[in-house]
Amino acid sequence: MTERKKVTLPSLFAKVAAKQPITMLTCYDYSTAHLLEQAGIDIVLVGDSLGMTMLGFEGTLPVTMEDMIRHAGGVRRGTPSAWLVGDMPYMSYQASVESAIRNAGRFMAEAGCDCVKLEGGAEVAPQVAGIARAGIPVMGHIGLTPQSVSAQGGFRLQGKGADQAKKLIDDARALEEAGAFAVLVELVPDRVTELMTSRARTSFIISLGAGPRAHGQLLIYHDMFGLYPRFKPRMAKQYADAGKLITDGLTAYIREVQEGEFPAKENYFTMADDAYEDLVRQLGD
Ligand code: KIV
Repeated sequence: MTERKKVTLPSLFAKVAAKQPITMLTCYDYSTAHLLEQAGIDIVLVGDSLGMTMLGFEGTLPVTMEDMIRHAGGVRRGTPSAWLVGDMPYMSYQASVESAIRNAGRFMAEAGCDCVKLEGGAEVAPQVAGIARAGIPVMGHIGLTPQSVSAQGGFRLQGKGADQAKKLIDDARALEEAGAFAVLVELVPDRVTELMTSRARTSFIISLGAGPRAHGQLLIYHDMFGLYPRFKPRMAKQYADAGKLITDGLTAYIREVQEGEFPAKENYFTMADDAYEDLVRQLGD
């Protein structure tokens, strides 16, 4: 198999310039990352949504830096070529610029990420500027921001009215001016995303449920394959029902074990007659 070329910031901006959409997916583990590598995805996000998809929490707030680093390292080993984004978890950057820089540095040094992502608009511009000044590429994240879901009144569309939409467009500009190379826009009306995309100068816009007129698209892997049991967001497209496929396999396994069909000859190893007879002699049976 031919090896992919490493995705870099210049190669991402070359796609933007050529008007080729950027592809982005979440991933939390080595084996899945290997599949994304084979498929040729541009950007992989190790999202703090792993708190829900991997750890079964109701939301993302309990996720720690240790959780993120452990998972991000596994994903890096599975996809050496994709541009790897480490998602900064709750309270790893909000308290101060210094904590933001230190934790962003951990994603780079300990997990091998290519950049970090953090949630928020103009209010986190100082953190974005600090991280960028430290030489670490930063992606912003506005619109629905799950770490602030309580303040936002639930998982709902953001920027429906003109005033709220104007604030989002200003936030995208503030993040860009602070040094963000990209802004992820989640659950925002398509026209608002389009305005942000056309206004972006030194950054590119990625849409998650925010319409087609962005420079790229993100989906949550577990939504794509029917692997998250609690809910399926309207914005997500399910490409296959891997949950059903796996459940069918599990049911077959249980039945085959119960009926003595598994393991079959090809699933185990036996011992040569002379070694076995010697063993039985030694055991005195
Ligand atoms: O954690 C995550 O997967 C995210 C996406 C919802 C954008 O931040």
